[in-house]
Amino acid sequence: DTKIIKIDKDNFNQEDLNKAAKIIKANGVVAFPTETVYGLGANGLNPEAVKKIYRAKGRPSDNPLILHIGEVSQLDDLVEEITEEATKCIEEFWPGPITIILKRKKVVPDIITAGLDTVAVRMPESSIARTLINLAKVPIAAPSANLSGRPSPTSAGHVIEDMMGKIDMIIDGGETGIGIESTVLDLSGSTPIILRPGGITYEDLKRILPDVVEDKANLENDIIPKSPGQKYRHYAPKAEMLVFTGNLEAVVNNIDKYTKQAIIEGKKVGIMATDETKEKYNDGTIKSLGTRMDKTTIANSLFSALREFDHLDIDIIFAEGVEKDNIGLAIMNRMMKASGGKTIKC
Ligand code: TXA
Ligand code: MG
Repeated sequence: DTKIIKIDKDNFNQEDLNKAAKIIKANGVVAFPTETVYGLGANGLNPEAVKKIYRAKGRPSDNPLILHIGEVSQLDDLVEEITEEATKCIEEFWPGPITIILKRKKVVPDIITAGLDTVAVRMPESSIARTLINLAKVPIAAPSANLSGRPSPTSAGHVIEDMMGKIDMIIDGGETGIGIESTVLDLSGSTPIILRPGGITYEDLKRILPDVVEDKANLENDIIPKSPGQKYRHYAPKAEMLVFTGNLEAVVNNIDKYTKQAIIEGKKVGIMATDETKEKYNDGTIKSLGTRMDKTTIANSLFSALREFDHLDIDIIFAEGVEKDNIGLAIMNRMMKASGGKTIKC
């Protein structure tokens, strides 16, 4: 049985979160909101508890998990050394949507790191998440709270869809703010590498870490990624998906053409448009993800749009790409993963 509790993120009483913290302490599994996406949490120092996360998600065991902490001081217990670069990142971006990878200490169980000698740690900004961690008094291991391969959950409804009956509790804290997962930054080697673009952008990082580079595997499907999690098809809707990139007018014309053809073939088409283009399409089920003037709006609705198209039994999704600057890089990374890399350059 999965308990669902509703918590107002701006006005909550710790007693409710205490129930969740007790489950974590007893090595159970609780889904909770963060500022990025919902996480599936368990005691990160207990291998049996962590095993339950892998089981509920159906996640391959070679894909390591992030440890979530409530205070910066908890980092000392988990990593060998907090490097100068890590200190800069923490001062600038924690609490917030960035996960850093450092050499791990022995207390971190192998099941967390999938046997790697590094560990991923994040201090979330969400007050519900941080209070829960502090009440549980252990680092909380938490992947996104979706079934492996499905779009990450940005509302409690999404978590219920994937996890009902499989875990002990779901904390409904409303919709998450950013809607895309944290940036994963590897600081365990000589150069800082962005393994997964996310809430904190390349441009943000470049200001404080001038050497930072991107793992090319983030956008190209034929390169073997350094981050185990990046090698799987992810965020996958049930429908086939194609991403159209290049000149916007050409993108709109091509999507229109492809839509007409797919409809002739008897397919149900979903179009991921934007506020600037949505009026230009004549056929298909059209969803605007947000405005190109502020791509955080697009990031915010991408995963829920993928799930909505599933509910509408869409056969094929045609998505407008976005410019890869700022949060656009993370959006394109998720679209590429969702489509299995299928793009049409216009
Ligand atoms: O925003 C987020 O990061 C959310 C919320 C819940 O905090 N969590 C999340 O976790 O997205 P997950 O497990 O879905 O993604 C973690 C990513 C995976 O791609 C994983 O392979 C990578 O981080 N990762 C974890 N530990 C790693 C390590 N030691 N070395 C390289 N990559 C690692
Ligand atoms: Mg995930």
